[in-house]
Amino acid sequence: MKEKIRSLLKKRKAILLAHNYQPPEIQDIADLCGDSLELSIRAAQTDAKVIVFCGVNFMAETASILSPDKTVLLPRKDAGCPMADMVTPEALKARLDNLSPMPVVTYVNSTAAVKALSTICCTSANATKVVNSLDAPEVLMIPDRNLALYTASCTHKKIHTWDGYCPVHNFLTREDVEKVKQTYPDAVFMAHPECRPEVLKLADNVLSTSGMIRYARKSKSSAFIVGTEIGLLYTLKKASPNKDFYPVSKMMECPDMKKITLDDIIRSLEFMEGEVKVPENIRQPALKAVQMMIDLSLPK
Ligand code: 13P
Ligand code: SF4
Repeated sequence: MKEKIRSLLKKRKAILLAHNYQPPEIQDIADLCGDSLELSIRAAQTDAKVIVFCGVNFMAETASILSPDKTVLLPRKDAGCPMADMVTPEALKARLDNLSPMPVVTYVNSTAAVKALSTICCTSANATKVVNSLDAPEVLMIPDRNLALYTASCTHKKIHTWDGYCPVHNFLTREDVEKVKQTYPDAVFMAHPECRPEVLKLADNVLSTSGMIRYARKSKSSAFIVGTEIGLLYTLKKASPNKDFYPVSKMMECPDMKKITLDDIIRSLEFMEGEVKVPENIRQPALKAVQMMIDLSLPK
């Protein structure tokens, strides 16, 4: 199946991008695995004609926003992100009507229609940098409350939050972490900023998924407790085979990130099925917010 996918990718002049939470067999055939920021940058830079996105809908939409002339395929159209659906354009407009004018910083885990109403996007890898780059004392950060609260603890700016959350990360409690820390007292605890503040307080480091991979590789420590979706354990072990990684909870599995199979990729490439295309009236304003974030994140 892997050979078939590689030959179909060649035939279609396609590139396969996979998020770090994707199943091992998909990560192993991808041209690039990464966090949301790395995947957006790669989607903007590739000269491939087709982008097969193994992740969830908002990631494929971001690729379509950045590359309107390419065909973006999401091999399972029903792979979504529940957090992205926790803010709608109507609800955002209503909230803005009740706030003094301020920039809207939107996590990429959001729909294209919401991005279109935003000042700038951010990811878990650059949220503080994005907020600090804005010439305003107050910002509204949507939709992830936990990312917003974490960013507030890293900046002097006033952050207004939204009541969204990731069901996978928000599930984790301080008690869960304390239990695992007792079992592995010497392990470094890395947590994703989508976790609750009570969990992040216990973390040695708060990082994006690729941030965790880089940090574990460089660290002098040899054992790590991983506070994010369990798919990252495979990626971490692959990058640092001599180190030990323990999930903070085996319950932290994102069902949407596990929907795509090798069969789906083959079908998608054979029949060009699962195209994600953002309409031009939404793409144009959404591009401004995404591009502003990318320009800020690329090395100068
Ligand atoms: P990263 O950008 O850190 O990879 O996170 C994406 C995501 O969906 C986390 O739940
Ligand atoms: Fe969305 Fe959470 Fe799944 Fe990431 S882990 S895609 S934020 S539901």
